Amino acid sequence: MQIGLLTGGGDCPGLNAAIRAVVKRSLGEYGHSVLGFRNGWKGVADGEFVQMSREMIRNKLPIGGTILGTARYHPTAENGGIDAVLATLEQENVEALICIGGDGTLHAASEVAAAGVNVIGIPKTIDNDVWGTDLSIGFHTAVNIATEAIDRVHTTAESHNRVMVVEVMGRTAGWIAVNAGIAGGAELVLAPEEPFDMDRIEKFLKHRHRSHASFSIVVVAEGATAKEGTSFSYESQLGQYGEIIGGAVGAAVAGEIARRTGFDTRLTVLGHVQRGGQPTPTDRILGSRFGVAAVDALAAGRSNVMTALVGESVELVELAEIAGKIKHVPAELLQVAHALA
Ligand code: F6P
Repeated sequence: MQIGLLTGGGDCPGLNAAIRAVVKRSLGEYGHSVLGFRNGWKGVADGEFVQMSREMIRNKLPIGGTILGTARYHPTAENGGIDAVLATLEQENVEALICIGGDGTLHAASEVAAAGVNVIGIPKTIDNDVWGTDLSIGFHTAVNIATEAIDRVHTTAESHNRVMVVEVMGRTAGWIAVNAGIAGGAELVLAPEEPFDMDRIEKFLKHRHRSHASFSIVVVAEGATAKEGTSFSYESQLGQYGEIIGGAVGAAVAGEIARRTGFDTRLTVLGHVQRGGQPTPTDRILGSRFGVAAVDALAAGRSNVMTALVGESVELVELAEIAGKIKHVPAELLQVAHALA
């Protein structure tokens, strides 16, 4: 069988582990061939691919990013995009497709599956917001990076008696903010799940600095918003598909804290640092498990499903079941972040 393979959407650490696992399992166990498409769905639409070999995956397990390249290209949003994808698959005799991506890539995967192609999805995103899986590839590494950054910001905040605002990624879900905030001991965590109230933030910081501390750490997810009806607002820059480009909320929150409290305040935007570099062992293992499971699922005749970590085991969930859903941070986890302020 000839299997097509792509990585779509934002890159993240752990993708190469999944690519390696797909190639090794396909070539070694089943004698399949693997066509690696360049730059996600764009490479499928444009017919840009490479025949995957063992040499290509050698020593790639500890390397971040994706050896296939990726792009923010949605065939469903482009005129003739899905037709171009289907034409390439037919022309190159691709009998099945493994798509490694977040909700955008997986949405396109289910459209292609609906057109009759055997498709398996593998969830990746540092945001960890793909529905149906406990973990997505990349999240564990991103939380490690963000936690280390908060630890470092902590010592300088304390030395300078400052409020340090740390903006982390997460447009629609605050998984990185909440987890790194708890692990790094942040005083305040602002996540998209709970619109924040600047009056309460002001009150909290003034009280804390008056009573027992001279510094504070505020972690804010890039998609956090102010509560409706409060006087505070800010505008984000939007990307090609209307998505938020990070940086705005952190600057707005830091500026407003400084204005209201008079405390010396600084902003650190972690940005793409969270997506780069070596994957943690957890992400390497998760990528490897998902890669093996995806190839085995095809061999078992499955299609239109995604590999998912459910508790301790890797399972298959229907792509239709996850479509249009976002996995938000549960209230209990948010409560822990607030309880330790
Ligand atoms: O891949 C997810 C993500 O890292 C989000 O956390 C972030 O909002 C977005 O990608 C940034 O995208 P880009 O790399 O296109 O600026």
